[in-house]
Amino acid sequence: MSHRPSGSFRYNVQGIEEPIEGRKRLNEVQTETHTENKYKALELETPGVYELEGLEVGVTSNCNFACDYCCAYRRDDGSYIGADEVIRLISDIPTLKRVRLSAGEVTLKFEDCVQIVTYCSERGIATQLNTNGSLLSRERIRRLKRAGLSNIHLSFNFTDAQSFAAYYGMDPRVYEKVVENIRLCAEEGLETVLETLLFGPTQSNMPAISAKVHELGVRIHEIQNSIVMDHEERPGWNAVATREALVRSVSDLIAARRPDTELYFTCMDRFMERLGFKEEPGVYFSNCVDGKKQLHLHGNGDILICELCRPEVIGNVYRGADLKTIYANRPPALAEFLERLPCPAYDALFPAGE
Ligand SMILES: C[S@@+](CC[C@H](N)C(=O)[O-])C[C@H]1O[C@@H](n2cnc3c(N)ncnc32)[C@H](O)[C@@H]1O
Ligand code: SF4
Ligand code: SF4
Repeated sequence: MSHRPSGSFRYNVQGIEEPIEGRKRLNEVQTETHTENKYKALELETPGVYELEGLEVGVTSNCNFACDYCCAYRRDDGSYIGADEVIRLISDIPTLKRVRLSAGEVTLKFEDCVQIVTYCSERGIATQLNTNGSLLSRERIRRLKRAGLSNIHLSFNFTDAQSFAAYYGMDPRVYEKVVENIRLCAEEGLETVLETLLFGPTQSNMPAISAKVHELGVRIHEIQNSIVMDHEERPGWNAVATREALVRSVSDLIAARRPDTELYFTCMDRFMERLGFKEEPGVYFSNCVDGKKQLHLHGNGDILICELCRPEVIGNVYRGADLKTIYANRPPALAEFLERLPCPAYDALFPAGE
């Protein structure tokens, strides 16, 4: 297996390894910041070895929402991969440290989610379930907690029912339900992450959103930089945050951070230093693990480099692809990706030549 040595380097924007200067390595970060979140801590590791540590599983591609920014691969194509099959696949990957259930809306297949989380938890694999939050209930939240879920991760972009309803074209009562479920997650002691997409409709409202996150009882706020969508289902979606708005939002959020709250900024690690940001206790710029340590499994067995920004199929588990050896055998598309390490988040803010 051609592993790269693990060491104190990170990838620069050209995808070339360079020594870490301003950024700490995992053990240093953990010692200084005491981040307690097992699932999130893995994102703070400096990626140095290409091997399958994380698997995102799209239990179902179907969804009860229809967000215009949605990155779901072949959303609503009806494909589904059940718990028995998922467990069979992951039990064969010795390097696996975390599993994320996400695609469309995976809570549409709730029993499968519980079964997968239970298995992972027994094996010491951290788990996260990504959801729009509309289909939860106290009973479901309790079951996920009992199953050993490490994190529940809910999308949260609006501070009131009217703006939510206007944006999504939905009944305002859906917002009330989501908010009720968020409060219940926090109340039931399930580790809860609220994720806000930093994009056109939220870029001027981030501090208010963060204040609402706190008011709902949640202490981990993830800010996901928005990525241009230009695939078949969502051609030309590009309401991504401008560079100016991103800098202002991130600065304002850091300045207003409450001491009991952790902020995780995602899809910003390639340029955060260039924009003048630094990690500090409670403020993290998660390393991008997609394609390097994490792959996405679609319900039809397709393996993708990254559902969010590189929905390129590199094999299919029903047609001979073996997740355990995929980094050793590197299909050409994966090898090409690892060679270049492209990043659409970087390209959107720093057009070629800048
Ligand atoms: C595809 S959704 C699936 C889980 C669930 N249905 C939900 O919306 O939370 C997973 C995450 O992807 C994020 N996402 C969707 N489209 C995106 C985009 N264009 N850029 C960045 N993140 C995006 C959403 O904000 C969401 O938190
Ligand atoms: S972002 Fe999530 S909730 Fe929205 S359509 Fe996509 S999968 Fe569904
Ligand atoms: S490569 Fe993709 S997932 Fe990784 S930081 Fe860039 S946009 Fe985000």
